[in-house]
Amino acid sequence: GGTVDLAVIAGDGIGTEVVEQGLLVLEAALGADGDGTRLTTTDFDLGARRWHATGETLTDDDLAAIRTHDAILLGAVGDPGVPSGVLERGLLLRLRFELDHYVNLRPGKLFPGVRGPLADPGEVDFVVVREGTEGPYVGNGGAIRIGTPHEVANEVSVNTAFGVERVVRDAFARAAARPRKKLTLVHKHNVLVHAGHLWRRTVEAVNADFPDVTVDYAHVDAATIYLVQDPSRFDVIVTDNLFGDIVTDLAAAVCGGIGLAASGNINPDRTAPSMFEPVHGSAPDIAGQGKADPTATVLSVAMLLEHLGRTAAAARVEAAVAADLAERGTAARSTSEVGKDLAARVAG
Ligand code: NAD
Ligand code: IPM
Ligand code: MN
Repeated sequence: GGTVDLAVIAGDGIGTEVVEQGLLVLEAALGADGDGTRLTTTDFDLGARRWHATGETLTDDDLAAIRTHDAILLGAVGDPGVPSGVLERGLLLRLRFELDHYVNLRPGKLFPGVRGPLADPGEVDFVVVREGTEGPYVGNGGAIRIGTPHEVANEVSVNTAFGVERVVRDAFARAAARPRKKLTLVHKHNVLVHAGHLWRRTVEAVNADFPDVTVDYAHVDAATIYLVQDPSRFDVIVTDNLFGDIVTDLAAAVCGGIGLAASGNINPDRTAPSMFEPVHGSAPDIAGQGKADPTATVLSVAMLLEHLGRTAAAARVEAAVAADLAERGTAARSTSEVGKDLAARVAG
């Protein structure tokens, strides 16, 4: 019973197309629960249209309204007609920071029947715990002498003991709950000695509380080799905000493409709603053509349901995606056809 009260930020480009399908599947999943759970949604007009009309990205009032919901479903933000960074920082990153989404959870799973680019990938089923509130994303930088030959442009990577410990602890807990119980720290402590050693010491210290978890380390450059040559070695990866951004696009490619890669921006302390979104962006190159694969959004909906404790509904959505992927032929389907097929499978 009860209600799921969702804030919906469809956003820009293919964001609106994939979110429509995500909501269709969410509705079907809650309906299939058969316990009378109601879905209520509130659309937030955020993104390029709003910015062009008002100059606003995300106001304090928007944020206060979003906070009252159980969870957020986001499509994508970013538009070629808006200066790069305005929406990405002013909307998406502001949401992640203000709502304290310090765990950016990004599964890397190769579903049966999915042909990725690797000839013999083995069983690929890992999860990246990407730190979500620190690193070079914080905006602790600046530039002087802009446009001159003496320009200085700094982006400082912020790593706090508090911020690193809480995300490392979360990653250990996730590793401890998985069969292989393996955690790989991905960093670059051979060069970034200040941040790198903080991450390394933190992993070492927190390991004492999770003695069953085996700890491993890879420099981020080598990690890109392993992701392509031996992805089945990974179980849980913990890494900083920027490394996590990069390795999860690579992970998506390895696992069959960016159209399948889901994510959750989690506030584990539940002091604010968590936000679920595909890993991909607004894809201006295919926007408005019905070509976007909504599967990443649908799998993000499964993560949303799991986060809200609706495990059976989450499993139903994931099973529908698995079945759809297993039977996917070469015939192209539109965004809404894939959404309809998935919703039908979920409804049973
Ligand atoms: P992108 O993820 O939008 O697109 C990269 C490539 O993947 C493109 O060729 C695109 O067509 C393809 N693609 C993406 N999603 C797909 C889907 N569902 N189905 C099939 N193909 C898909 O990345 P980009 O081109 O670097 O960025 C475009 C804009 O999106 C930029 O403004 C960027 O800042 C923004 N962006 C936003 C988010 C977000 O909202 N979370 C994430 C990444 C990028
Ligand atoms: C992502 C995106 C964002 C990020 C951008 C748009 C701010 O690339 O969600 O992966 O770098 O986190
Ligand atoms: Mn990214």
